[in-house]
Amino acid sequence: MNEGKQWVKRTRTVTPSQRLLPLWEENQLAQVSRPRVDLETKEAKILFRQVSQHIPSTTYGVFGLYRYPAKFIPQVVDYIIEHYASPDDVVIDPFAGSGTTGLVARLHGLSYELWDLNPLLEVLHRVSIMPPPRLSTSDLENLIREMRSCRHRFSPAWSNISYWFPPEVLQLLERVFGWFHRLENETIKLLCTVPLLKTMRLFSFNDPQRQKLCRSPRSMSRVASLMQGDWREHFFALLKKEIEVVLKKLSEYQTLMNNGGREVHAIIRAGVDALDVSKDVHSEWDLLITSPPYLQAQEYIRASKLDLFWLGYTEEEVRRLASMEIPYRPVPQIEIHSPTYHRWHQEIREKRLRLMFERYFHSVLSILTNLASCVRSRMFLFVGPAKIRANPVPIDRIFVEHFTHLGWEHEATLVDTIIARVLFRTQTNPATGLEDHRMHAEHLVILRRG
Ligand SMILES: C[S@@+](CC[C@H](N)C(=O)[O-])C[C@H]1O[C@@H](n2cnc3c(N)ncnc32)[C@H](O)[C@@H]1O
Repeated sequence: MNEGKQWVKRTRTVTPSQRLLPLWEENQLAQVSRPRVDLETKEAKILFRQVSQHIPSTTYGVFGLYRYPAKFIPQVVDYIIEHYASPDDVVIDPFAGSGTTGLVARLHGLSYELWDLNPLLEVLHRVSIMPPPRLSTSDLENLIREMRSCRHRFSPAWSNISYWFPPEVLQLLERVFGWFHRLENETIKLLCTVPLLKTMRLFSFNDPQRQKLCRSPRSMSRVASLMQGDWREHFFALLKKEIEVVLKKLSEYQTLMNNGGREVHAIIRAGVDALDVSKDVHSEWDLLITSPPYLQAQEYIRASKLDLFWLGYTEEEVRRLASMEIPYRPVPQIEIHSPTYHRWHQEIREKRLRLMFERYFHSVLSILTNLASCVRSRMFLFVGPAKIRANPVPIDRIFVEHFTHLGWEHEATLVDTIIARVLFRTQTNPATGLEDHRMHAEHLVILRRG
């Protein structure tokens, strides 16, 4: 990794008083957190969970508010901002998901812009940044009493809804969400959103162990055991507990604030197609920090369907959003400047897989190439493991080749070992019989404007 001055952005001089961290603290960090980069490959090993000192755990505060699929661990963004940002930098994340990039940027007092196809981004972001409301135990009990006695009903506009719940649970949910949708107090509404969604999911036949929305014998028996005895009482007790969890998480997040009193501006564009939006941008940002969608086996809109319908989205809206999801959508071709991409493309025999591979790179690179001309300093692209027919796809290398051709400098690729996602681990690659190191890691590609 580059030392000293090279950690400071080239485009603007940062005086010691403008640094995000006091110098002594920065020096301490430097000892533990600057990995050695291999001069040839520009790769370095890192454990973001260990080097980032500010955020105690991956699920601390609002970072553990909601289980969004394949979300950033906040320490990745924290590391980037600590080492590469100046206090007045503005950050963009075009695939923001649950909004981790913005939530970490806010801790440091940086302004940010977040985009995502998934409309959940908007509500999750609004919940996460709100100051924790002061509620006494009796306030909370009154709230639950109000919910229980509500006579209004809300029925999701989804023809398939009864497939996912026992009929008596569905009836209860319709009343509780009837109360929710009529609420005028915005703070209470935000506070209750995630607890309602979580409790609704717990009482649904959806299996949370699967990546996609899916009913399983395991989840059916979970619901059956939840429904023994006075299950309605249990439902509201769980809901109350979840509200308390949100209150705690909001307070924890506020304790992490280290923004020097700077005012933060946030632009949130949820429910938008980044391919469309990136064609016509008039803004500029200093840093782009993002983790693009997975190459396969992840359908974010489908995974969010239950939540979206209960929040009031219609079947037609959800279908429209799903049709724009990467890599399942048709996309105009761009010129991809990567020999590795073209070699892989030729070697994939199966038409369906080749099409998905093609769509993935044409859409992600098209968006990032459009945005690159509006990024003043650096791009940070965090890519997870992906395989085609058991072969790990070198997504990071393809990104590096494309952008270095366009004049960006490849500064480093930091390789983080995945601890939590055992799902992807295999000892040997069945196709080659060789030990498969790439499958254990996620790659943070760091590109600097040349
Ligand atoms: C790996 S996730 C990002 C997770 C995020 N870093 C977080 O911490 O929650 C990739 C995101 O890309 C989004 N996505 C997929 N297709 C998209 C499109 N056409 N336009 C914008 N976002 C899209 C998905 O909805 C998903 O949230």
